[in-house]
Amino acid sequence: MSKTAIVELEGKKYEFPLIEGSENEIAIDISKLRDLSGAITMDPGYKNSGVCKSDITFLDGEEGILRYRGYSIEELADKGNFLEVSYLVIFGELPTKEQLAKFQNDINKYTLVNEEMKDIIDGFPRTAHPMGVLSCMTGALTAFNPKVVNVENEKEMYDAVCKTMGKFMVIATWTYRKSAGFPLNYYDNTKGYVENFLHLMFELPTGPYSANPVVVDALDKLFILHADHEQNCSTSTVRMVGSSHAGLFASISAGVSALWGPLHGGANQAVLEMLEAIQKDGGDADKYLAKAKDKDDPFRLMGFGHRVYKNFDPRARIIKKAADEVLRELGVDDPILQIAKKLEEAALVDDYFVSRKLYPNVDFYSGIIYRALGIPTDMFTVLFAIGRLPGWIAQWKEMRINKEPIGRPRQIYTGHPLRSFVEMEKR
Ligand code: CMC
Repeated sequence: MSKTAIVELEGKKYEFPLIEGSENEIAIDISKLRDLSGAITMDPGYKNSGVCKSDITFLDGEEGILRYRGYSIEELADKGNFLEVSYLVIFGELPTKEQLAKFQNDINKYTLVNEEMKDIIDGFPRTAHPMGVLSCMTGALTAFNPKVVNVENEKEMYDAVCKTMGKFMVIATWTYRKSAGFPLNYYDNTKGYVENFLHLMFELPTGPYSANPVVVDALDKLFILHADHEQNCSTSTVRMVGSSHAGLFASISAGVSALWGPLHGGANQAVLEMLEAIQKDGGDADKYLAKAKDKDDPFRLMGFGHRVYKNFDPRARIIKKAADEVLRELGVDDPILQIAKKLEEAALVDDYFVSRKLYPNVDFYSGIIYRALGIPTDMFTVLFAIGRLPGWIAQWKEMRINKEPIGRPRQIYTGHPLRSFVEMEKR
């Protein structure tokens, strides 16, 4: 196979090298295109553009494959736990027993959040959306940790990872405590990382909270499935912000904002709200399928479709199975589930969805489990953020270690040509 690609532009030929990935993916390296030809490429939404080489996650949308550092998501969800998968994603290898124990211990050193952060969260109205508060609180961590980590220094980078994992979990749950009007809670270093999520969220000063192991297991699995997803919108945002050498907290704060949107992580909340709206409207799934297909109606079936998965979303398969188990185990009988099932069954055989390769994605089922676990709807995307944190950290670290240049796309200008300033009285 030729190792170059030829671009012909206005009768002139330009040759560009190919870059091959370890799974035989191919990219045309056009980094010299503008210098040589004066032209740039145009690819809104980056549907065909690679921006980096990465060792972290392999994703094949046609085959429905997702792997972190070479391990299949199916195996990791089955055999791993979230903290060891986080270690794998961030540092590249599965931890030994000692490394994992040390990682947990080192995270525990950073789980106390500065008391002054409480004054900051106090300034938000209780009605504020938790994702907006989380983004601000993550940004606020820079005020208490102003030193930007030196990525070349392994120890400094390792400490920054542990600090981020420890503090992010606490402030993420504070966004709920604030909105519920509960006193902010402290991390309990005698408990595990995922168990702490439930403790931080639900334990009240009035009595102990004991976590249901079925719930802990389900959350652990969900966090693993969200841990990384290569160059998605929020991760590219984290890399882009970090490419200016902004710090880790500042970059992650931007990632949280990107994740919030309903076309990305915010879809898990949007799915539940959609199902509730359908239920309130009489439960007619067909009516909403018709709306989703109507070109003149902006309504989209939330939880369906994916930019890269054009066959099935492997995360959705695992979660669907987990959802069935959890709902059975917890004895949940929720009428919303019937509507979800009807929508799913109808869409999977409907030509509109089949021809456009629109399948249920991870967010279609995750919201259903979160609801069964008693998580408030507007916290769903915060859970996505907790799960995605190791991916953001790993991608930020990789981008800095690889010394990637500052992200700065080009554009094609379509505005006015040069014109003269018009004096106020002549306009
Ligand atoms: N409902 C109805 N029609 C849809 C949907 C949907 N959910 N998604 C895509 N389409 C149609 C779209 O109208 C277009 O039709 P046509 O070719 O006739 O113009 C075609 O399918 C292609 O859509 P697109 O918007 O060009 O595809 P995209 O790759 O840019 O968008 C997406 C991907 C995920 C933003 C989109 O499918 C969507 O909006 N889905 C609903 C939101 C959602 O569930 N997001 C969560 C994604 S998974 C979690 C994550 O990783 O972020």
